[in-house]
Amino acid sequence: MPACCFLIVLLVFSGFSTCHGHGTENETVLGNSTVTPLLLVSFDGFRADYLKKYSFPNLEKFFSDGVLVDHVSNVFITKTFPNHYSIVTGRYAESHGILSSNMYDPDANKTFSLSNDFDSFWWEQATPLWVSIQQKGFKSAAAMWPGTDIKIHNLTASYFLKYQHNVPFQERVDNLTKWLSQDLVKFATLYWEEPDYSGHLYGPDNIKEMTKALKQVDDHIGYLIDKLNQTGLWSNINIIITSDHGMVQCAPDRLIRLDDCIGPKNYTLVDMTPVSAILPLTNVTYVYDLLKKCNPHMKAYMKEDIPDRLHYKNNRRIQPIILVADEGWTIVRNGSLPRFGDHGYDNTLPSMHPFLAAHGPAFRKGYRLNSINTVDIYSLMCHLLRLEEQPNNGTFTNTKCMLASQWCVNLPEVIGIVIGVFMVLTTLTCLIIIMKNKGPPSSRSFARLELQDDDDDDALIG
Ligand SMILES: *[C@@H]1O[C@H](CO)[C@@H](O)[C@H](O)[C@H]1NC(C)=O
Ligand SMILES: *[C@@H]1O[C@H](CO)[C@@H](O)[C@H](O)[C@H]1NC(C)=O
Ligand SMILES: *[C@@H]1O[C@H](CO)[C@@H](O)[C@H](O)[C@H]1NC(C)=O
Ligand SMILES: *[C@@H]1O[C@H](CO)[C@@H](O)[C@H](O)[C@H]1NC(C)=O
Ligand SMILES: *[C@@H]1O[C@H](CO)[C@@H](O)[C@H](O)[C@H]1NC(C)=O
Ligand SMILES: *[C@@H]1O[C@H](CO)[C@@H](O)[C@H](O)[C@H]1NC(C)=O
Ligand SMILES: *[C@@H]1O[C@H](CO)[C@@H](O)[C@H](O)[C@H]1NC(C)=O
Ligand SMILES: *[C@@H]1O[C@H](CO)[C@@H](O)[C@H](O)[C@H]1NC(C)=O
Ligand SMILES: *[C@@H]1O[C@H](CO)[C@@H](O)[C@H](O)[C@H]1NC(C)=O
Ligand SMILES: *[C@@H]1O[C@H](CO)[C@@H](O)[C@H](O)[C@H]1NC(C)=O
Ligand SMILES: [Zn+2]
Repeated sequence: MPACCFLIVLLVFSGFSTCHGHGTENETVLGNSTVTPLLLVSFDGFRADYLKKYSFPNLEKFFSDGVLVDHVSNVFITKTFPNHYSIVTGRYAESHGILSSNMYDPDANKTFSLSNDFDSFWWEQATPLWVSIQQKGFKSAAAMWPGTDIKIHNLTASYFLKYQHNVPFQERVDNLTKWLSQDLVKFATLYWEEPDYSGHLYGPDNIKEMTKALKQVDDHIGYLIDKLNQTGLWSNINIIITSDHGMVQCAPDRLIRLDDCIGPKNYTLVDMTPVSAILPLTNVTYVYDLLKKCNPHMKAYMKEDIPDRLHYKNNRRIQPIILVADEGWTIVRNGSLPRFGDHGYDNTLPSMHPFLAAHGPAFRKGYRLNSINTVDIYSLMCHLLRLEEQPNNGTFTNTKCMLASQWCVNLPEVIGIVIGVFMVLTTLTCLIIIMKNKGPPSSRSFARLELQDDDDDDALIG
């Protein structure tokens, strides 16, 4: 019996302390030649529930032999640049400085846009993973991942393609795999504009067009796997396929027109929709008061009142007033709906979440996880690359169960085991009692004798 109790205690304990790292490898001993290369892939705007609504034969093959995370909670604002930079830095937007697609920095009096993103100044509030790994003496390769073609702390990726949206996926993969075949290249990034592009153009509710776009995305995943297989990289590379954000349907009857509420000379519009960045040119309180009551489907925040949970406040590149549209609503100055699908909304909305899949020697096979955060991906990657983490907002324990080297038991399993063991023990105990009671008369009287002896003892002690 004591041995069994010990077993229960052990099981319960291991359950609540979850995911023990076992045999944490000695990094000094292993040296650097044993670091398995890591390929990080992003398909822009791949909303998590596309996986449930459309068919992805190649992607399904990929994660059925690896890991699938159904939801990734991304960072606010749920746009491309902030989230791609969060993936490779592990930080919220306010802590890495890439706050949106359009920014203004009042101290430097500089502006940033997707077509004017080359100034290192914008990128150096954090250090992306490819720079850290190069500072360690390794090399990185990049095919169009935001920021990789820009000097950050004096380094671009070791090998990179200059951003050009019209370079076909196959060419990006072909050039990247050539670089990946080199010894010192340990970290590679690959970016593709779909299904974001089609999501904006048609809206995610356009089943016909999205079916086409998503079939192409899955074909691209098939091409990538084949290419890695042909070049002999497939069996010795860890691959993460993820995305930056989701997409939601917009409509002409869900428009918020700022010109209806406030004269355009009152402010500079630094960023448009669905999160507007407002730099007031007249009295701030006056501008805020006009915007606050502009439309019930839009919230106006003074910078200091932006909710903490958004982690979108502590940076001088956030303007004095921001406007946040409700899901599916579009902010314009005047005029009509610019596009049928959009993202950028509150990061708690499931429609804004992407997914994550992983495959390779480091990952468990056929493992499924409900959710992680975008900022958690960085420390997972650092672990895979045996790289020291820079200060960040992620948590390694959120992702460690994805790894084959970690021993993980989840809570339902533990409860099941404990209940199972308990039932077996109870049954055994009952059986023993029954057998004792059903024993031959001689042994029964002997048992009674024992009991009487016990009673005597008790009386003596008492
Ligand atoms: C790893 O091994 C080296 C050499 O044996 C040793 O000096 C070092 O302390 C070890 N590190 C850890 C974390 O065990
Ligand atoms: C900021 O830069 C713009 C043009 O880039 C210039 O017109 C303006 O005077 C500058 N403002 C300040 C305060 O330096
Ligand atoms: C890894 O090995 C290469 C060559 O063997 C060396 O140049 C590089 O500095 C090493 N990097 C680390 C992190 O040890
Ligand atoms: C930046 O890198 C170049 C070589 O690419 C080097 O000559 C220069 O000294 C570096 N600057 C700093 C500040 O590290
Ligand atoms: C990819 O590599 C080929 C062959 O080296 C080269 O001709 C081509 O320009 C590269 N593509 C890009 C986008 O740099
Ligand atoms: C890799 O190629 C081999 C030989 O063509 C094939 O048998 C295997 O199924 C391929 N593996 C994957 C994952 O596609
Ligand atoms: C600011 O907006 C208000 C309300 O639309 C308008 O009456 C006023 O003229 C505007 N001020 C400027 C400087 O444009
Ligand atoms: C700014 O506007 C508010 C509200 O309209 C007003 O109470 C305040 O006096 C104004 N401040 C200045 C400096 O004009
Ligand atoms: C709509 O906004 C644009 C840009 O601010 C402006 O040039 C145009 O005159 C506005 N049109 C109307 C009808 O107000
Ligand atoms: C996020 O990480 C940065 C860098 O370590 C840190 O300065 C910041 O306070 C963190 N944010 C939160 C909300 O913990
Ligand atoms: Zn987009």
